[in-house]
Amino acid sequence: MNKIVEKIDKREAVIGVIGLGYVGLPLAAESAKQGFKTYGFDINEYRVRSLQKGEVFISYLNREEIAGFVKTGRFVPTDDFSHLGKCDVIQICVPTPLTQMREPDLTFVENASREVMKHLRKDQLVILTSTTYPGTTKEVMIPILEESGLMAGRDFLVAFAPEREDPGNKDFKTSTIPKVVGGLDEESLRAASKYLSSIVTKVVEVDTLEEAEFAKLLENIYRSVNIAMINELKMLAIRMGINIWNVIEAASSKPFGFQPFYPGPGLGGHCIPIDPFYLSWKSKQYDFPTRFIELSGEVNTKMPYYVVERLTYGLNNNKKSVSGSKILILGVAYKKDVGDTRESPAIKIIELLQELGAEVHYNDPHVEHLVPEHSTLKDMDSVELNDNTIKNYDAVVITTDHSTYDYKWIVEKAKLVLDCRNATKEFRNGAKNIVVA
Ligand SMILES: NC(=O)c1ccc[n+]([C@@H]2O[C@H](COP(=O)([O-])OP(=O)(O)OC[C@H]3O[C@@H](n4cnc5c(N)ncnc54)[C@H](O)[C@@H]3O)[C@@H](O)[C@H]2O)c1
Repeated sequence: MNKIVEKIDKREAVIGVIGLGYVGLPLAAESAKQGFKTYGFDINEYRVRSLQKGEVFISYLNREEIAGFVKTGRFVPTDDFSHLGKCDVIQICVPTPLTQMREPDLTFVENASREVMKHLRKDQLVILTSTTYPGTTKEVMIPILEESGLMAGRDFLVAFAPEREDPGNKDFKTSTIPKVVGGLDEESLRAASKYLSSIVTKVVEVDTLEEAEFAKLLENIYRSVNIAMINELKMLAIRMGINIWNVIEAASSKPFGFQPFYPGPGLGGHCIPIDPFYLSWKSKQYDFPTRFIELSGEVNTKMPYYVVERLTYGLNNNKKSVSGSKILILGVAYKKDVGDTRESPAIKIIELLQELGAEVHYNDPHVEHLVPEHSTLKDMDSVELNDNTIKNYDAVVITTDHSTYDYKWIVEKAKLVLDCRNATKEFRNGAKNIVVA
């Protein structure tokens, strides 16, 4: 199986990336950029057809460059999985959501593995990249691949290499974020490490598949727990009349042993609200309660309810009730300066306010049309934000602090501003229409 390493070295290896989303597409693009013939597989026909026309749905990627790779045939987006047989390295980057009962939903990984199994041949390397609980590669993916009659380790290689993509982060991109990798055996690790180090600047090898799987979850549990802690402390600080953001800034002056985390209206995005529960689910098999995961989940899930409570308080000061009020939500993306609304707390906040009888609209420069997932909300369109529109609302809620908003103008024009992001910090002195949440 040394052949595969040699092929990678000479850029003769053919790469297949399954799942062309936020993780798979940048990886496929990077692989093409590094000179590999790259097939990108997806079951979403619209996504495949758009990519085939050179249309790239992720705004922060180099669209012209990717369109160029498609044009020259270096990058082939396709829904024809028979091309998998030509690939030397196959990287699986499909979603790993939770079921309605908040348990791991591995159907995408299973389906993608089944496609690989149908076309599996000797000397291929299969890398699972989807975030999942320790044991998935061995207990779920390999058994499916071995239904082909080939044996992992003997006939084909297997690795797990999680992703750390941070959408919208201007300091780091796919190629400059170190990649952790674990192999089924020494040979798998060598081959995966060789391939990955040709597309990213640093590869960190660990001893087993499970260590690599666990490492990714540790990173996200660390964030979830710390965000929950600061959210709880924020609620206490507000009750005590203390500005938590000033407290964080002061604590951050400590040059060691402290990393700041910032409070907000709740968790969002594809990873932090979901991934920790992959581990808490698996831990049950070991009779081991993961209390930090459960507690942080509880606190973070409560945050949109807290935002509504603070809005009720603010409206009350203006002798208004939530019912019948017109509310404008600013920012429905789950974080600053991106258009990703997956698991966004703003969606839950809109839902709760509508339930209470408010008329709710939103504005988001990055989200023209909101299609709320996992929600009873109907699709919505972003409304215009100008002198005429803002004054029609009883309250404006800053859920996401996009850089393009003029916060001074918002504070001047809005009847009431509920600030969940400390975006109005410079204008709070003397302003009576700002409530912090
Ligand atoms: N988005 C992030 O920032 C991020 C960061 C780190 C890790 N991850 C993890 O990476 C994985 C992928 O996440 P994502 O954000 O790229 O998801 P995504 O929803 O953006 O993209 C997944 C793609 O996979 C496709 N797909 C689903 N089943 C398929 C199949 N059987 N064959 C081919 N294509 C299939 C979907 O159509 C979609 O285009 C998840 O496990 C996620 O937890 C995501």
